[in-house]
Amino acid sequence: MRELLAKYKNIFERQLQEIVAEYQCDIQPISDALIYAVSNGGKRIRPALCYLGADFCGKDVDCIKNLAVGIEMIHSYSLVHDDLPCMDNDELRRGKPTAHKVYGEGMAMLAGDALLNMAFEVMLGDHNFDNNMHSAMKYVAKMCGIRGMIGGQCLDLANESKENFGLKELTRLNRLKTSCLISGALVGSAIRCGADDKEIQALELYAQNLGEIFQIVDDILDRTSTEQVLGKQVKQDVANGKKSVVDILGIETAKEYIKKLENEAIEKISVYGNRSQKLVELCKFLSNRTN
Ligand code: IPE
Ligand code: IPE
Ligand code: MG
Ligand code: MG
Ligand code: MG
Repeated sequence: MRELLAKYKNIFERQLQEIVAEYQCDIQPISDALIYAVSNGGKRIRPALCYLGADFCGKDVDCIKNLAVGIEMIHSYSLVHDDLPCMDNDELRRGKPTAHKVYGEGMAMLAGDALLNMAFEVMLGDHNFDNNMHSAMKYVAKMCGIRGMIGGQCLDLANESKENFGLKELTRLNRLKTSCLISGALVGSAIRCGADDKEIQALELYAQNLGEIFQIVDDILDRTSTEQVLGKQVKQDVANGKKSVVDILGIETAKEYIKKLENEAIEKISVYGNRSQKLVELCKFLSNRTN
């Protein structure tokens, strides 16, 4: 899986460069800020999920290029805004100063806005735009909006210093904040590649658990890892008064909970046999990730 993700990352960086060259403009410093935010070396898990959605449907990475770039632009914008002083107030992202530290808060806010708009421009600009792409974009728009990632970020802000957040509330929050965009990538890609309703349903259940796993591991690493390894500040959740699954369950039980989510995700998807083998491997890999 590590090699496959490295291969996908290379493919993505090439696709991103092509698209950025096509869509960039000369208004500064917003243009530089936008490029800084999107091309500064994340793990590129969401583009990998787009490629895996295509692979699941027997399609190749090129047919999903605009969707993969669009999704990563949306993810990158969400991080720029997430790091702002009015949200998590972070100074380090992907091993570099956060966008607002370099370009100022106003410019970071605008760069985030511009990335979101550009994401939709890029997806609409797909050279083979068809009904499936239309449906995929509609799905992505829902997954990154108020009934998806933004809704989750809203609950996350409300979470600060609140006592009445239990596992049920945190599960809802994590599904919206993190699983939705992960679904946007994987399921959006499968919709674009013509998956049927049964396949979409299985992929959605898988993506829901994968997103929860991804966020709980992020919350564990915030407690246990280092700034050097993660490329972002650690111990920020406690500093910001954010309760996570780790507070409710403790680290060891949270890891058992991850295992349960992993088994469920694998069960949902493995009915597809060979077609879903890479997704099974990815889920195991992300459950045990250390960065
Ligand atoms: C960080 O996402 C935000 C979460 C949902 C936990 P990633 O850990 O995928 O961040 P990058 O893209 O690799 O920087
Ligand atoms: C952010 O979750 C998820 C988003 C939707 C941006 P976190 O706030 O935990 O992500 P990090 O730890 O800053 O990467
Ligand atoms: Mg946050
Ligand atoms: Mg944050
Ligand atoms: Mg975090």
